[in-house]
Amino acid sequence: MKILITGGAGFIGQHLARSLVDHGHTVTALDSLDGQVHQDPAEAAQRFPGEVVLGDVAEEPVWFALDPHDAIVHLAAETGTAQSMYEIDHYRRVNVDGTRLAAEAAVRWEAAIVSLSSRAVYGEGRKLGPGEILPAGVDGGEDGTLIPSTEDDEHRPVSVYGETKSEAERILAEVTVGHVPAAVIRPQNVIGRGQALHNPYTGVLAAFLARLKDGLPLTLYGDGAQTRDFVHVEDVVALIEWCLENPANVSDSPRTVNCGCGVRTTLKELAQYAIDAAPGVDVPIEHIEVRRAGDIDHACADLRRLRSLGAPEPRWSTRDAIADFIKSSWDKKGAAPEAWDEALQELKARGLTE
Ligand code: UD1
Repeated sequence: MKILITGGAGFIGQHLARSLVDHGHTVTALDSLDGQVHQDPAEAAQRFPGEVVLGDVAEEPVWFALDPHDAIVHLAAETGTAQSMYEIDHYRRVNVDGTRLAAEAAVRWEAAIVSLSSRAVYGEGRKLGPGEILPAGVDGGEDGTLIPSTEDDEHRPVSVYGETKSEAERILAEVTVGHVPAAVIRPQNVIGRGQALHNPYTGVLAAFLARLKDGLPLTLYGDGAQTRDFVHVEDVVALIEWCLENPANVSDSPRTVNCGCGVRTTLKELAQYAIDAAPGVDVPIEHIEVRRAGDIDHACADLRRLRSLGAPEPRWSTRDAIADFIKSSWDKKGAAPEAWDEALQELKARGLTE
């Protein structure tokens, strides 16, 4: 198949592209090579195992200039949760308009589309209410009261980023329904080699790596009891490929599926796993009292739908995935704790922290 990957030069796109090429497909990237993500855009473009079309997914003429493809994997998005709280129009444009144009191209080309959404559509993870019982086989956290998110849960985003992802899902459905097979994947916190280490919106583990490399204490925002579900990028790629190989019937599209490990890791555990994986480094763990706008306490995927579809289950355990990220990123350039400090200062200056 000839597959277009929007955001193909990025972290997930590069992993996906290599795997698709290994499986005999041809890939094209549509990518803006954004400076916040790419410290060396030319190197990223060169590394992509196919043609790279430089362009903005939210610009309609860019799409009309492309040759038709057999399938589209739509990864291009702005992903900084806190940043979305002040770059509102930009996030809406890229994430919502970009998804609409990708969906319209899929219909024009009669191509299947797999679109990456986010667990951010769920907002804060739910807790058991009175009389409610935790479903069997899901991770309820230390005291068993946290409910992993299911695909049928109501959308309750608490950030502009989450709102744009929710809106993008709605538009994707509106445009593709009855026309082409469409899949929506909602990843939890994706980690793995090749993440943008200098980008303060990459996520907490990249922040920890930067501090570990400088021998600085790891800073937990709050008590560190927050939970996240970390999933290895190779497991995300396996799920995207499965969706391409097993398109839903048009009548069942879009088919939405969670993507995670289904296991909660507290931030305290995350910090300890990162320290354990760091070669020859030991640093203390500190707590600072701060909460960023759009932050949530708990997130975890319920994987029962994924299992019932026969889609691949994650192969990496959270702990191994964390260790793989730390070890494979250790000698890479770019990690800078100042970038996180500056991003936090910027949020404080804008009144976006508590
Ligand atoms: C992350 C991504 C987001 C993505 C989402 C779902 C950001 C920055 N990252 O959001 O793009 O859509 O996963 O995949 O938006 N924390 C610390 N110390 C630090 C940094 C963070 O304790 O130095 C805490 C935060 O307060 C938060 C948790 O770690 O409770 C996770 O933070 P982070 O990875 O930045 O954001 P997510 O909400 O998980």
